[in-house]
Amino acid sequence: MALDAVAKTCTLMALCLENIGVMRYEEFISIIISLDYTQPLSDEHVTVTDTAFVDIPVRLYLPKRKSEAPRRAVIYFHGGGFCFGSFTAEEQTAFDFLNRWTANKLDAVVVGIDYRLAPKYHFPAQFEDGITAVKYFLQDKILTKYGVDPSRIAISGDSSGGTLAAAVTQQLTNFEISQPQHSVQVHTDSEVKHKFKLQALLYPGLQVIDTSLPSHRDNQHGIVLTRDIAIKLVSLFFTKDEALLQAMRKNQHMPLESKHLFRFVNWSTLLPDKYRKDHVYTEPVLGRSAYSLPALMDHRALPLLADDAQLQHLPQTYILTCQYDVLRDDGIMYVSRLQNVGVPVFHDHVENGIHGALSYMTSPLYLQLGLRIKDMYISWLDKNL
Ligand SMILES: *[C@@H]1O[C@H](CO)[C@@H](O)[C@H](O)[C@H]1NC(C)=O
Repeated sequence: MALDAVAKTCTLMALCLENIGVMRYEEFISIIISLDYTQPLSDEHVTVTDTAFVDIPVRLYLPKRKSEAPRRAVIYFHGGGFCFGSFTAEEQTAFDFLNRWTANKLDAVVVGIDYRLAPKYHFPAQFEDGITAVKYFLQDKILTKYGVDPSRIAISGDSSGGTLAAAVTQQLTNFEISQPQHSVQVHTDSEVKHKFKLQALLYPGLQVIDTSLPSHRDNQHGIVLTRDIAIKLVSLFFTKDEALLQAMRKNQHMPLESKHLFRFVNWSTLLPDKYRKDHVYTEPVLGRSAYSLPALMDHRALPLLADDAQLQHLPQTYILTCQYDVLRDDGIMYVSRLQNVGVPVFHDHVENGIHGALSYMTSPLYLQLGLRIKDMYISWLDKNL
């Protein structure tokens, strides 16, 4: 309750400042988050350094323990609604803590990848940064440099970082399939030779074409993250134009030609009864707004929009969802879609969970729920990677 009160107070202040023209909502929230920045500090177990992959800033966590064999590796994208957060510039203590913990517990190399933020940069900048940095890391010479076993690499992320992790995984998996073996060699595309062993998505956002899922309805005024704020942030990922935001609030933002995509997010078939409860499915209202943005139909922005053929070769997947989260049903529908095409999925659902819990597990809140989610995620990684 205290956390929710603080979050809602900050939101209210940010919206007031925006309405009277002092600064934009996301600028104010960025200032609050930047108060929590941590330096790249090494400790007795892990060497922490800030560097760059091509020109993408990354924070590296290398275990100090001596190791004969090559190590496992985890690539991590932080959350923050595409607007906030960074590993190297203003990282929240919580993500630094999480990556350090992962490196130490799994004796793994951990890479926290930064990406350009909205609203200064819109999609696909974030996706492109993710791809650039991941491809750089997956090169033989870089994996060798950091002592990584190429067959044991995971990709993870929370919230909007989960969106990026899912999108990058789809892109690289399908790239490999679409390239015949010999052409990979001809083009010396060693950068995507290696596959991810698994992906882990923590309360990810995976679609916005339907903003009236049961989880949107149940958590309209949700703890910390309300439906309005979630929609505001995701609309900034695509554009600064407020028309999109207004249309998304009414769930009337999709053009007629997007009709074929709605079966990929049809919660009347993809959500188990338990989450559907008494909610009644309504068919989408299309072509109501003059708004037509190709990015809203792009699976690199909204991974649930990939078709079955694009999903079926994905690696083993871990998805964690929280009950009290507007994004809950995105994660659950992805579980169903992946299961339907035979991808091995492990689903952890946290009954008393709230969105963003990992962000509050360090000082001053030490949120028990966040620590529990961290342990669930780490223990699955440890068993499966
Ligand atoms: C969603 O699924 C229901 C069946 O449960 C079906 O009647 C409806 O036409 C579907 N809608 C879309 C847009 O796929």
